[in-house]
Amino acid sequence: MSRSLPDNFLLGCASAAHQVEGGLDNDWSRMEREQPERIRDRSVSGIACDHYTRYREDLATLAAMHHTAHRFSIEWSRVEPREGVFVREALLHYRDVVRTCRALGMEPIVTLQHFTLPVWLADRGGVRCADAPRLFARFAAACAEALGEDVQWWVTINEPSVLAVFGYLYGDWPPLQPSIRGFLGALGGTARMHAAAYRAVHQVARAHGWAARVSVAHHERPMRPLSPRSRVQRAVAVLPNAIFNRWFLRACTTGRLLPPVGRGQKIAALRGSLDYLGLNYYSEQRVRFNARRPRELFAEPVVPSDLPLSSFGWTIDAGGLRRAVETLWRQFGLPIVITENGVADEGDELRPRFFVDHLSAVCEAIEAGADVRGYLHWTAMDNFEWAEGYSKRFGLFSVDRETLERTPKPSAAVFAEICGTRTVASA
Ligand code: FCB
Repeated sequence: MSRSLPDNFLLGCASAAHQVEGGLDNDWSRMEREQPERIRDRSVSGIACDHYTRYREDLATLAAMHHTAHRFSIEWSRVEPREGVFVREALLHYRDVVRTCRALGMEPIVTLQHFTLPVWLADRGGVRCADAPRLFARFAAACAEALGEDVQWWVTINEPSVLAVFGYLYGDWPPLQPSIRGFLGALGGTARMHAAAYRAVHQVARAHGWAARVSVAHHERPMRPLSPRSRVQRAVAVLPNAIFNRWFLRACTTGRLLPPVGRGQKIAALRGSLDYLGLNYYSEQRVRFNARRPRELFAEPVVPSDLPLSSFGWTIDAGGLRRAVETLWRQFGLPIVITENGVADEGDELRPRFFVDHLSAVCEAIEAGADVRGYLHWTAMDNFEWAEGYSKRFGLFSVDRETLERTPKPSAAVFAEICGTRTVASA
């Protein structure tokens, strides 16, 4: 059986500056340099894929594979390496990335912050700094002015909840500050930053008469009880789901800093600050009660025995993507763009089937009524996977770490076929 994707459905890949560009000086590269033990394979992002200089060839390759969209992030530390000092060449670079996308027939989807921060802001308290919303809004406005009407899809912050969990709750990522207070502060801080940038982008767009749709890239990782029949197991999933999967989105729709982050105070510009919903989905998480895991709110992650696993150890279940889309559509009623979905797969054995299953799941959700506008696969090239270094392979292309030569994997052709025909044929 084969299914068709709607006309105008956006299909392409997603990336992030720190993972592909190379040559960066931000809070992450500082940590890689100063605390090499934080990165599993002790690599540094370094030259990464050298995408900053090779973007034209890379984008042309993706366009030749019938991609119709491309998501990338602007690196704040390049654009504003010192507070208040904006580098025109950096903005012109990103403008050219956008123009190149357009010239190649790919819709650009631009992220303003994807996990990294300039060191000057990190040193002032990062996302928890009281001034961060104003500073982020100023940066967002500079980007919106520079990139202009060629960008209609904006993502302010990539995965605020993931940033708060890894940077603050666990403290494994910059700023390496494990504390519950810090975690809640980071959620509140990123919500304020998002609201400020949402308003800034719209102000610029309105002043010029440009169209802009602004959202976040929300990481949805539903916690499901390992034993659904047990009341305790069901109960233990409720709080982590409410905080990790819903707090931020509810803040954006209600305009309030809800408990446990705030007391319900209103934040200017937060209410209704999602024009669409950017969804990053990789996996669901089975959990069971464990009294010794307070940091995980007593919900211990467990690996189920009935599902295949990626080389990251995450379960692979396309049904989870369909459930995520349908649930978010039902709860928020916003058009959805799947801003990331992918699989860590050393030998490219899982990815061909992954495409078929996950895009079929998207088609099913659309048939069931969900308004889904696009699918961006994570990612085009094997790249620097944060604390995993270069040890995880999410790309359609492998990248020789010596020569940086890109080689397409078999799954790249599978995705190209889907993009070219807008048809998903089940195996
Ligand atoms: C997401 C991140 C992205 C990448 C994938 C594998 O959570 O947004 O940068 O690391 O996971």
